[in-house]
Amino acid sequence: MRPHKIVVLGGTGFVGRHLVPRLQRDGHAIRVLTRNRDLHRELGVLPRVSLANADVHDRGVLAREFAGADAVINLVGILNERGHDGAGFRKAHVELTRTVIDACIGNGVPRLLQMSALRAGEGTSHYLATRAQAEALVQSSPLAWTVFRPSVIFGEGDGLFFRFASLLRIAPVLPLARSRARFQPVYVGDVAEAFARALVHPHTHGHTYELGGPRVIELGELVRGTARMTGRRRLVLSLPDALGRVQALVGEWLPGKPISRDNFRSLQLDSVVRDDGLSSLGIIATPMEAVMPRLLEAHGGRDRDRRG
Ligand SMILES: NC(=O)c1ccc[n+]([C@@H]2O[C@H](COP(=O)([O-])OP(=O)(O)OC[C@H]3O[C@@H](n4cnc5c(N)ncnc54)[C@H](OP(=O)(O)O)[C@@H]3O)[C@@H](O)[C@H]2O)c1
Repeated sequence: MRPHKIVVLGGTGFVGRHLVPRLQRDGHAIRVLTRNRDLHRELGVLPRVSLANADVHDRGVLAREFAGADAVINLVGILNERGHDGAGFRKAHVELTRTVIDACIGNGVPRLLQMSALRAGEGTSHYLATRAQAEALVQSSPLAWTVFRPSVIFGEGDGLFFRFASLLRIAPVLPLARSRARFQPVYVGDVAEAFARALVHPHTHGHTYELGGPRVIELGELVRGTARMTGRRRLVLSLPDALGRVQALVGEWLPGKPISRDNFRSLQLDSVVRDDGLSSLGIIATPMEAVMPRLLEAHGGRDRDRRG
């Protein structure tokens, strides 16, 4: 396999922090575009990895950055927008993807790997609707594309177990909307492996892979499991939908928007795979139980150390 020159958008986030070192180990040269490289210096110290400040929505900037690249990976995604009408989601998911595709075509980049989400295009959330619109642009492009649709992703620094672990640290009682919603959490290392394999295997061109882990779990059970793994006795209260909607509305005004009405609408759908993309790619899914207790224990240990 010949090493590739790859440009990654959104590569400084949770998935990118695992994917970029994984690709780097395969010998690829990786250029990560970010809005603020000073915040992510640790990625740039890896051999063959460079970080560049870039406005990824600017076609001219992408033209410059994509010149000579073999592949582009688009990981940019948002769970919450500033307003409420979907415009923020359309900009981050749909308009950006259109700009990326145009810049790939205009600059001779043949290959695009696009991150999406399970259940894209279903339900009533702006998040899932705009994910599907972006997928459609990719899938109708002349590029050699591959789309990935993961369920929630777990691992070091995730927005799932680690976010709930932080909430459980301060809240003796946690009221939870949509606690019966089902997920199939997939390990970030397996997601990175899926991208790494797709990059070098032409049989993945023109395919959409759903990525889920070995176990389906309800949100409430996942949160209770997080409390157990962090050694905390906590009451997790399942909110009926009427109260869940109120929590989502209030959540939009809290710092960091822990939940929004759009999140609540996404949670109406189970995030469970129909086709097992990991096994199609020859990857054995890593169980949560093999990874999270150790990571959360280390996380709790750091909390205890900070408290002295
Ligand atoms: N984590 C999950 O459980 C999960 C599940 C399903 C799908 N996904 C999708 O997988 C992708 C990666 O997820 P993640 O957890 O790594 O997300 P993340 O930690 O939030 O990182 C996303 C990255 O995208 C960039 N970005 C965010 N908003 C942007 C904007 N408006 N314009 C330009 N760049 C922007 C940011 O890079 P800079 O700040 O450096 O510019 C950020 O590092 C996302 O598309 C996400 O929706 C994630």
